[in-house]
Amino acid sequence: MGVGIKLDPNYLSPEASPAEISQWQDRVDYVHSVLVDGTGPGAAFLGWLYPDALMPAELLSGIEATAVRLREKADVMVVIGIGGSYLGARAVIEALAGSDAGRVVFAGQTLAPDYIASLLKSLKGKRWCINVVSKSGTTTEPAVAFRLLRAALEEQVGVEAAKDLIVATTDPDAGKSALRRVATTKGYELFDVPPNVGGRFSVLSAVGILPIAFAGVDVRALVKGAANCCAACETSAVKSNPAYYWVAARNLLYRQGKSIELLATWDPRLLYFAEWWKQLVGESEGKDHMSLFPASVQYTTDLHSMGQWVQDGRRSLLETFISIEDASPSVRIPDDPDNADGLNFLTGTEIGEVNRKAFEGTALAHRDGGVPNMTISIPKLDAYHLGALIYFFERGTAVSGYLLGVNPFDQPGVEAYKTNMFALLKKPGSEAKSAEVLRRVEEGRKLAPIGFE
Ligand code: PA5
Repeated sequence: MGVGIKLDPNYLSPEASPAEISQWQDRVDYVHSVLVDGTGPGAAFLGWLYPDALMPAELLSGIEATAVRLREKADVMVVIGIGGSYLGARAVIEALAGSDAGRVVFAGQTLAPDYIASLLKSLKGKRWCINVVSKSGTTTEPAVAFRLLRAALEEQVGVEAAKDLIVATTDPDAGKSALRRVATTKGYELFDVPPNVGGRFSVLSAVGILPIAFAGVDVRALVKGAANCCAACETSAVKSNPAYYWVAARNLLYRQGKSIELLATWDPRLLYFAEWWKQLVGESEGKDHMSLFPASVQYTTDLHSMGQWVQDGRRSLLETFISIEDASPSVRIPDDPDNADGLNFLTGTEIGEVNRKAFEGTALAHRDGGVPNMTISIPKLDAYHLGALIYFFERGTAVSGYLLGVNPFDQPGVEAYKTNMFALLKKPGSEAKSAEVLRRVEEGRKLAPIGFE
């Protein structure tokens, strides 16, 4: 089965014409070989590069069996995780699980008290289970949520029964992961986050595959799509590898002064795919005060909010459209004898066709307005093609990071807020830092707030 992903470059010109893109070929060839040979920065985190090896048949069967076991015992799964430990699963589930998407809910991605209180309330009386996902096993947000949810589950079903309803996904090394130590002591089932895979590249490992399987999505097709896209990426020729064309175009436009890449989708099912993409790109490339800012919009909804800015605001944008060619199910616009809204010229037309014309009209209007744009299309929103698209962007992001000259696989900047938060919370060991951070926070309050009584 082919991969089916296509990139339409027509509206990238004149800024990023095919001739200009082809001038990037040598650089793309070089970073492609650096990636494949494992000789670049962060090479210890390339476990995602070959999806078949990341998710061997035996592991996939084991995860499917656990998903079946949990589905027999629970109607709802609470996935506890943050960043790469939940966004990929949420992206796939919201795109593909249909009415079963509600069977998986999320926690540990926020510290907002109302969210967790409402979630705990909503779980009362339900049959539910937990998949706690944290590679480090010490991230504050999921660790706090796990304490609360584990206590609630144990209170509801008893400590013994709760054991069978909790699965932990974490680093295999108990020396590194406190979560593994807890799970082992308590007797929970465990899956590994491969040590050579970072969170934002982990959706096709047990991190994403267990919750996705619980939601009833065809995880085999998901992995197959990714594996086939990987095989297709064997070529580094930008003319025949759309992932690398995307990379060359966005890097060329970045060097011409574009500072924002807007990922624009045309289907609300892709809302969390865009959230996943923003983390993937933002955390991989946002280093050394460089890189495009990854943003997203969902059209046509946002044409009525952000559309004005995109059309006429500061010309700092490039836009990447995601298009799904298949416009099913068929929903036809009915006739209205009064025709008060003047829409009878659309009688019998499929809404999907109207959506497509809105897309074609928007791409042209934005091009005319000075926003170079490209369209990445898949034939159908199904597990196979979504798996391929996930891999497309993982591969593209890794290559793009190398082109930019950064390590796409680390995230040193994420530590800054944690250091301050722990100091303010007086975590043991951070006493010295606490005094300094407290002093600076106080100093930062020199000016009185401006407000209404
Ligand atoms: O991509 C990443 O590495 C991060 O977003 C992590 O996934 C996130 O910080 C959660 O980390 P952990 O899985 O260790 O709890």
